[in-house]
Amino acid sequence: MGKLLEVNNLSISFTQYVQGLNRHDLKVISDLSLDIGESEIVAVLGSSGSGKSLLAHTILGILPYNAHVTGDVKFNGEILDQEKKEKIRGKEICLIPQSVNFLDPLMKVSQQAVGECKDDNERKEKKIRQREVFAKYGLDESVDDLYPFELSGGMARKVLLSTALLNDPDLLIADEPTPGLDSKSVEETIQDIRKLKDQGKGVLLITHEIDVALKTADRIAIFYSGYVIEINKVENFLNSDNLLHPYTKALVDALPHNGFKLTEGVQPLEEVSGCPYYENCPISSDKCANNKPELIEHDGAMIRCFNFNKAVSEEVVDEVVSEEVVDEVVSEGPVEESVSEEIAEEVNGEEANDGA
Ligand SMILES: Nc1ncnc2c1ncn2[C@@H]1O[C@H](COP(=O)(O)OP(=O)(O)O)[C@@H](O)[C@H]1O
Ligand code: SF4
Ligand SMILES: [Mg+2]
Repeated sequence: MGKLLEVNNLSISFTQYVQGLNRHDLKVISDLSLDIGESEIVAVLGSSGSGKSLLAHTILGILPYNAHVTGDVKFNGEILDQEKKEKIRGKEICLIPQSVNFLDPLMKVSQQAVGECKDDNERKEKKIRQREVFAKYGLDESVDDLYPFELSGGMARKVLLSTALLNDPDLLIADEPTPGLDSKSVEETIQDIRKLKDQGKGVLLITHEIDVALKTADRIAIFYSGYVIEINKVENFLNSDNLLHPYTKALVDALPHNGFKLTEGVQPLEEVSGCPYYENCPISSDKCANNKPELIEHDGAMIRCFNFNKAVSEEVVDEVVSEEVVDEVVSEGPVEESVSEEIAEEVNGEEANDGA
Protein backbone atom coordinates (compact mmCIF):
# COMPACT_ATOMS: atom_id res chain seq x y z
CA MET A 1 0.00 0.00 0.00
CA GLY A 2 1.25 3.46 -0.89
CA LYS A 3 2.13 6.05 1.68
CA LEU A 4 -0.45 8.64 2.66
CA LEU A 5 2.09 11.34 3.46
CA GLU A 6 5.75 11.63 2.53
CA VAL A 7 8.00 14.49 3.59
CA ASN A 8 11.30 14.41 1.73
CA ASN A 9 14.45 16.32 2.68
CA LEU A 10 12.55 19.25 4.12
CA SER A 11 14.64 22.19 5.32
CA ILE A 12 13.25 25.44 6.71
CA SER A 13 15.20 28.56 7.52
CA PHE A 14 14.42 32.17 8.34
CA THR A 15 16.34 35.22 7.27
CA GLN A 16 17.08 37.46 10.19
CA TYR A 17 18.59 40.93 10.18
CA VAL A 18 21.00 41.48 13.04
CA GLN A 19 21.66 45.11 14.01
CA GLY A 20 19.58 46.32 11.11
CA LEU A 21 21.61 45.23 8.09
CA ASN A 22 23.55 42.02 8.69
CA ARG A 23 21.68 39.10 7.16
CA HIS A 24 21.72 35.85 9.08
CA ASP A 25 20.04 32.57 8.14
CA LEU A 26 18.50 30.70 11.05
CA LYS A 27 18.01 27.07 10.07
CA VAL A 28 15.22 25.48 12.07
CA ILE A 29 14.59 22.18 10.25
CA SER A 30 17.32 20.37 8.31
CA ASP A 31 16.85 17.57 5.81
CA LEU A 32 13.74 16.13 7.44
CA SER A 33 12.24 13.01 5.92
CA LEU A 34 9.37 10.93 7.25
CA ASP A 35 6.29 9.13 6.00
CA ILE A 36 2.91 8.04 7.31
CA GLY A 37 0.75 5.20 6.00
CA GLU A 38 -2.99 4.62 6.30
CA SER A 39 -3.99 3.42 9.76
CA GLU A 40 -0.70 4.58 11.14
CA ILE A 41 0.18 7.05 13.90
CA VAL A 42 3.62 8.60 13.66
CA ALA A 43 4.76 10.81 16.53
CA VAL A 44 7.30 13.56 16.02
CA LEU A 45 8.98 14.04 19.37
CA GLY A 46 11.10 17.12 19.95
CA SER A 47 11.66 19.77 22.57
CA SER A 48 9.89 23.14 22.44
CA GLY A 49 11.13 25.42 19.69
CA SER A 50 12.56 22.53 17.65
CA GLY A 51 10.37 23.21 14.60
CA LYS A 52 7.51 20.76 15.12
CA SER A 53 4.73 23.25 14.42
CA LEU A 54 6.63 24.51 11.38
CA LEU A 55 6.54 20.95 10.03
CA ALA A 56 2.75 20.91 10.48
CA HIS A 57 2.42 24.36 8.89
CA THR A 58 4.56 23.29 5.92
CA ILE A 59 2.25 20.35 5.21
CA LEU A 60 -0.79 22.63 5.48
CA GLY A 61 0.76 25.48 3.48
CA ILE A 62 0.45 28.08 6.24
CA LEU A 63 4.10 28.97 6.88
CA PRO A 64 5.03 32.56 7.67
CA TYR A 65 6.03 34.64 4.63
CA ASN A 66 9.71 34.90 5.68
CA ALA A 67 10.29 31.12 5.78
CA HIS A 68 12.61 29.59 3.15
CA VAL A 69 11.69 26.02 2.33
CA THR A 70 13.40 23.29 0.32
CA GLY A 71 12.34 19.67 -0.09
CA ASP A 72 8.87 18.37 -0.89
CA VAL A 73 5.68 17.05 0.63
CA LYS A 74 3.68 14.31 -1.12
CA PHE A 75 0.13 13.29 -0.34
CA ASN A 76 -1.11 10.02 -1.87
CA GLY A 77 1.99 10.03 -4.08
CA GLU A 78 1.40 13.54 -5.48
CA ILE A 79 3.68 16.48 -4.72
CA LEU A 80 1.75 19.22 -2.95
CA ASP A 81 2.40 22.73 -4.24
CA GLN A 82 0.85 25.71 -2.47
CA GLU A 83 -2.30 25.58 -4.61
CA LYS A 84 -2.89 21.89 -3.84
CA LYS A 85 -2.19 22.42 -0.15
CA GLU A 86 -4.88 25.11 -0.04
CA LYS A 87 -7.31 22.85 -1.89
CA ILE A 88 -7.01 19.86 0.46
CA ARG A 89 -6.45 21.78 3.69
CA GLY A 90 -9.44 21.31 6.00
CA LYS A 91 -10.69 18.50 3.77
CA GLU A 92 -8.31 15.58 3.16
CA ILE A 93 -5.75 16.91 5.66
CA CYS A 94 -6.96 18.54 8.87
CA LEU A 95 -5.21 20.09 11.83
CA ILE A 96 -6.13 19.54 15.44
CA PRO A 97 -4.58 22.72 16.79
CA GLN A 98 -2.75 22.99 20.05
CA SER A 99 -5.00 25.42 21.82
CA VAL A 100 -8.51 26.74 22.11
CA ASN A 101 -7.08 30.08 20.98
CA PHE A 102 -7.45 28.77 17.44
CA LEU A 103 -11.22 29.08 17.88
CA ASP A 104 -12.88 32.43 17.19
CA PRO A 105 -13.76 33.77 20.67
CA LEU A 106 -16.79 35.65 19.33
CA MET A 107 -18.50 32.74 17.59
CA LYS A 108 -20.46 29.82 19.04
CA VAL A 109 -18.54 26.58 18.69
CA SER A 110 -21.07 24.78 16.46
CA GLN A 111 -21.17 27.76 14.07
CA GLN A 112 -17.43 27.72 13.57
CA ALA A 113 -17.31 23.93 13.30
CA VAL A 114 -19.88 24.10 10.47
CA GLY A 115 -17.93 26.91 8.82
CA GLU A 116 -18.86 28.74 5.63
CA CYS A 117 -21.63 27.22 3.49
CA LYS A 118 -22.70 28.09 -0.03
CA ASP A 119 -26.44 27.79 0.72
CA ASP A 120 -29.05 26.77 3.31
CA ASN A 121 -29.10 23.15 2.14
CA GLU A 122 -25.39 22.77 2.68
CA ARG A 123 -25.70 24.47 6.08
CA LYS A 124 -28.44 22.02 7.14
CA GLU A 125 -26.39 19.00 6.02
CA LYS A 126 -23.26 20.23 7.75
CA LYS A 127 -25.20 21.04 10.92
CA ILE A 128 -26.53 17.44 11.05
CA ARG A 129 -23.03 16.08 10.56
CA GLN A 130 -21.62 18.48 13.19
CA ARG A 131 -24.17 17.20 15.74
CA GLU A 132 -23.32 13.57 14.90
CA VAL A 133 -19.58 14.09 15.30
CA PHE A 134 -19.93 16.20 18.46
CA ALA A 135 -22.24 13.54 19.97
CA LYS A 136 -19.72 10.83 19.12
CA TYR A 137 -17.17 12.64 21.25
CA GLY A 138 -19.57 13.16 24.15
CA LEU A 139 -20.51 16.79 23.42
CA ASP A 140 -24.25 17.18 24.01
CA GLU A 141 -26.49 19.77 22.32
CA SER A 142 -25.97 22.37 25.03
CA VAL A 143 -22.31 22.65 23.92
CA ASP A 144 -23.29 23.82 20.42
CA ASP A 145 -24.33 27.25 21.70
CA LEU A 146 -21.33 27.84 23.94
CA TYR A 147 -18.57 30.31 23.21
CA PRO A 148 -14.97 29.06 23.46
CA PHE A 149 -14.34 30.77 26.83
CA GLU A 150 -17.23 28.75 28.32
CA LEU A 151 -15.57 25.39 27.55
CA SER A 152 -13.57 23.38 30.08
CA GLY A 153 -10.11 22.14 28.96
CA GLY A 154 -11.44 18.66 28.18
CA MET A 155 -14.47 20.01 26.27
CA ALA A 156 -12.31 22.44 24.28
CA ARG A 157 -10.05 19.58 23.25
CA LYS A 158 -13.07 17.55 22.13
CA VAL A 159 -14.43 20.53 20.18
CA LEU A 160 -11.07 20.96 18.38
CA LEU A 161 -10.92 17.25 17.59
CA SER A 162 -14.57 17.06 16.42
CA THR A 163 -14.17 20.19 14.30
CA ALA A 164 -11.09 18.71 12.62
CA LEU A 165 -12.98 15.49 11.92
CA LEU A 166 -16.12 17.05 10.44
CA ASN A 167 -14.85 16.73 6.89
CA ASP A 168 -13.70 13.15 7.42
CA PRO A 169 -10.05 13.77 6.48
CA ASP A 170 -7.61 10.99 5.55
CA LEU A 171 -4.77 12.56 7.50
CA LEU A 172 -4.95 14.29 10.86
CA ILE A 173 -2.19 16.46 12.22
CA ALA A 174 -2.47 16.76 15.99
CA ASP A 175 -0.19 19.56 17.16
CA GLU A 176 0.56 19.12 20.87
CA PRO A 177 -2.96 17.98 21.76
CA THR A 178 -2.30 17.21 25.45
CA PRO A 179 -0.37 19.94 27.34
CA GLY A 180 -2.46 21.62 30.01
CA LEU A 181 -4.99 18.79 30.21
CA ASP A 182 -5.67 16.81 33.37
CA SER A 183 -4.59 13.16 33.30
CA LYS A 184 -8.10 11.86 32.52
CA SER A 185 -8.41 14.16 29.49
CA VAL A 186 -4.91 13.14 28.35
CA GLU A 187 -5.96 9.46 28.44
CA GLU A 188 -9.16 10.29 26.53
CA THR A 189 -7.20 12.22 23.92
CA ILE A 190 -4.86 9.28 23.44
CA GLN A 191 -7.82 6.91 23.06
CA ASP A 192 -9.53 9.27 20.58
CA ILE A 193 -6.39 9.44 18.46
CA ARG A 194 -5.97 5.66 18.60
CA LYS A 195 -9.58 5.31 17.36
CA LEU A 196 -8.74 7.36 14.26
CA LYS A 197 -6.16 4.76 13.34
CA ASP A 198 -8.85 2.07 13.61
CA GLN A 199 -10.90 4.09 11.11
CA GLY A 200 -8.04 3.86 8.61
CA LYS A 201 -6.76 7.40 9.07
CA GLY A 202 -3.13 8.45 9.21
CA VAL A 203 -2.12 10.65 12.14
CA LEU A 204 0.90 12.88 12.57
CA LEU A 205 1.15 13.41 16.32
CA ILE A 206 3.36 16.32 17.28
CA THR A 207 4.46 16.33 20.88
CA HIS A 208 7.23 17.05 23.35
CA GLU A 209 5.81 14.50 25.81
CA ILE A 210 7.54 11.14 25.54
CA ASP A 211 4.89 9.23 27.48
CA VAL A 212 2.15 10.49 25.13
CA ALA A 213 4.20 9.41 22.09
CA LEU A 214 4.87 6.01 23.66
CA LYS A 215 1.23 5.40 24.49
CA THR A 216 -0.21 6.64 21.20
CA ALA A 217 2.11 6.12 18.24
CA ASP A 218 3.10 3.19 16.05
CA ARG A 219 6.42 4.82 15.17
CA ILE A 220 8.29 7.69 16.78
CA ALA A 221 10.54 10.16 14.97
CA ILE A 222 13.08 11.83 17.27
CA PHE A 223 14.00 15.46 16.53
CA TYR A 224 17.40 16.67 17.67
CA SER A 225 18.67 20.14 16.82
CA GLY A 226 16.42 20.38 13.76
CA TYR A 227 17.31 16.92 12.44
CA VAL A 228 15.34 13.71 12.59
CA ILE A 229 17.98 11.42 14.06
CA GLU A 230 15.99 8.22 14.40
CA ILE A 231 12.59 6.83 13.43
CA ASN A 232 11.74 3.56 15.09
CA LYS A 233 8.78 1.36 16.02
CA VAL A 234 7.25 2.19 19.40
CA GLU A 235 7.93 -1.31 20.80
CA ASN A 236 11.66 -0.75 20.31
CA PHE A 237 11.45 2.17 22.74
CA LEU A 238 10.75 -0.29 25.57
CA ASN A 239 14.39 -1.33 25.60
CA SER A 240 17.22 0.99 24.62
CA ASP A 241 19.19 -2.00 23.25
CA ASN A 242 16.70 -2.06 20.36
CA LEU A 243 17.31 1.60 19.55
CA LEU A 244 20.06 2.87 17.29
CA HIS A 245 21.09 6.45 18.03
CA PRO A 246 23.12 7.22 21.21
CA TYR A 247 20.86 10.20 22.02
CA THR A 248 17.69 8.09 21.72
CA LYS A 249 19.25 5.33 23.83
CA ALA A 250 20.24 7.82 26.53
CA LEU A 251 16.79 9.38 26.44
CA VAL A 252 15.06 6.05 26.98
CA ASP A 253 17.54 4.93 29.62
CA ALA A 254 16.63 8.07 31.55
CA LEU A 255 12.95 7.10 31.73
CA PRO A 256 10.91 7.26 33.87
CA HIS A 257 13.27 8.94 36.35
CA ASN A 258 13.27 12.18 34.43
CA GLY A 259 9.48 12.37 34.59
CA PHE A 260 9.15 11.59 30.87
CA LYS A 261 10.55 14.99 29.97
CA LEU A 262 12.78 15.88 27.06
CA THR A 263 15.73 17.93 28.16
CA GLU A 264 15.62 21.49 26.97
CA GLY A 265 18.48 23.69 25.95
CA VAL A 266 21.21 21.10 25.33
CA GLN A 267 20.84 21.05 21.56
CA PRO A 268 23.07 23.24 19.39
CA LEU A 269 21.04 26.00 17.79
CA GLU A 270 23.72 27.18 15.37
CA GLU A 271 24.54 25.18 12.27
CA VAL A 272 27.54 22.92 13.00
CA SER A 273 29.90 21.42 10.44
CA GLY A 274 29.69 17.84 11.73
CA CYS A 275 27.10 15.68 13.45
CA PRO A 276 24.78 17.83 15.60
CA TYR A 277 25.22 15.39 18.52
CA TYR A 278 29.03 15.38 18.31
CA GLU A 279 29.67 17.51 21.40
CA ASN A 280 27.59 15.22 23.64
CA CYS A 281 28.17 11.88 21.96
CA PRO A 282 29.83 9.06 23.91
CA ILE A 283 30.77 7.05 20.78
CA SER A 284 31.90 9.78 18.41
CA SER A 285 34.80 9.22 16.04
CA ASP A 286 37.00 11.72 14.16
CA LYS A 287 34.74 11.51 11.12
CA CYS A 288 31.80 12.91 13.13
CA ALA A 289 33.50 16.25 13.80
CA ASN A 290 33.30 17.54 10.22
CA ASN A 291 30.89 15.27 8.38
CA LYS A 292 27.11 15.11 8.62
CA PRO A 293 25.56 11.66 8.73
CA GLU A 294 22.62 11.07 6.36
CA LEU A 295 19.33 9.55 7.47
CA ILE A 296 19.56 5.95 6.28
CA GLU A 297 17.38 2.87 6.53
CA HIS A 298 18.44 0.06 8.83
CA ASP A 299 16.37 -2.98 9.68
CA GLY A 300 13.04 -1.21 9.18
CA ALA A 301 14.14 1.88 11.12
CA MET A 302 15.73 5.17 10.00
CA ILE A 303 18.97 6.32 11.61
CA ARG A 304 21.30 9.30 11.27
CA CYS A 305 24.62 8.20 12.81
CA PHE A 306 27.95 6.90 11.44
CA ASN A 307 28.55 4.52 14.36
CA PHE A 308 25.09 3.29 15.30
CA ASN A 309 26.20 -0.33 15.66
CA LYS A 310 29.00 0.53 18.02
CA ALA A 311 28.34 -0.69 21.58
CA VAL A 312 28.28 1.92 24.32
CA SER A 313 29.67 0.73 27.63
CA GLU A 314 27.30 0.94 30.58
CA GLU A 315 29.62 3.35 32.34
CA VAL A 316 29.46 5.75 29.43
CA VAL A 317 25.67 5.49 29.21
CA ASP A 318 25.40 6.23 32.93
CA GLU A 319 27.60 9.25 32.42
CA VAL A 320 25.57 10.61 29.50
CA VAL A 321 22.26 9.93 31.20
CA SER A 322 23.25 11.52 34.46
CA GLU A 323 25.19 14.50 33.14
CA GLU A 324 23.21 15.59 30.13
CA VAL A 325 19.78 14.10 30.20
CA VAL A 326 18.72 13.82 33.82
CA ASP A 327 21.15 15.98 35.68
CA GLU A 328 18.40 17.12 38.02
CA VAL A 329 17.57 13.58 39.19
CA VAL A 330 21.00 11.99 39.46
CA SER A 331 20.62 11.58 43.19
CA GLU A 332 17.80 9.09 42.64
CA GLY A 333 20.30 6.38 41.75
CA PRO A 334 20.67 4.02 38.81
CA VAL A 335 17.88 3.59 36.31
CA GLU A 336 16.49 0.10 36.59
CA GLU A 337 13.78 0.15 33.95
CA SER A 338 13.64 1.92 30.62
CA VAL A 339 9.98 2.83 30.78
CA SER A 340 7.22 2.56 33.34
CA GLU A 341 5.35 -0.73 33.63
CA GLU A 342 2.13 1.08 32.77
CA ILE A 343 3.50 2.21 29.41
CA ALA A 344 5.14 -1.15 28.71
CA GLU A 345 1.78 -2.82 29.35
CA GLU A 346 0.00 -0.41 27.02
CA VAL A 347 2.45 -0.96 24.19
CA ASN A 348 2.55 -4.72 24.72
CA GLY A 349 -1.22 -4.89 25.10
CA GLU A 350 -1.61 -3.00 21.87
CA GLU A 351 0.72 -5.45 20.13
CA ALA A 352 -1.31 -8.36 21.44
CA ASN A 353 -4.50 -6.72 20.18
CA ASP A 354 -2.96 -6.10 16.78
CA GLY A 355 -2.07 -9.76 16.49
CA ALA A 356 -5.56 -10.88 17.49
N1 LIG B 1 8.15 33.72 11.59
C1 LIG B 1 9.30 33.34 12.15
N2 LIG B 1 10.43 34.06 11.98
C2 LIG B 1 11.61 33.67 12.53
N3 LIG B 1 11.78 32.54 13.21
C3 LIG B 1 10.71 31.76 13.41
C4 LIG B 1 9.41 32.11 12.89
N4 LIG B 1 8.53 31.11 13.23
C5 LIG B 1 9.24 30.20 13.95
N5 LIG B 1 10.54 30.59 14.04
C6 LIG B 1 11.62 29.84 14.70
O1 LIG B 1 11.39 28.47 14.55
C7 LIG B 1 11.52 27.81 15.80
C8 LIG B 1 10.60 26.61 15.81
O2 LIG B 1 9.28 27.02 15.93
P1 LIG B 1 8.09 25.98 16.16
O3 LIG B 1 7.92 25.13 14.95
O4 LIG B 1 6.90 26.78 16.57
O5 LIG B 1 8.65 25.07 17.37
P2 LIG B 1 7.89 23.93 18.18
O6 LIG B 1 6.53 23.75 17.58
O7 LIG B 1 8.75 22.72 18.04
O8 LIG B 1 7.83 24.40 19.60
C9 LIG B 1 11.21 28.87 16.83
O9 LIG B 1 11.92 28.65 18.01
C10 LIG B 1 11.71 30.13 16.18
O10 LIG B 1 13.09 30.27 16.47
S1 SF4 C 1 27.47 10.40 13.94
FE1 SF4 C 1 29.13 10.30 15.40
S2 SF4 C 1 28.79 12.03 16.82
FE2 SF4 C 1 26.92 11.69 15.66
S3 SF4 C 1 25.68 10.39 16.96
FE3 SF4 C 1 26.78 9.05 15.56
S4 SF4 C 1 28.67 8.49 16.60
FE4 SF4 C 1 27.80 10.21 17.69
MG1 LIG D 1 4.64 24.01 18.42
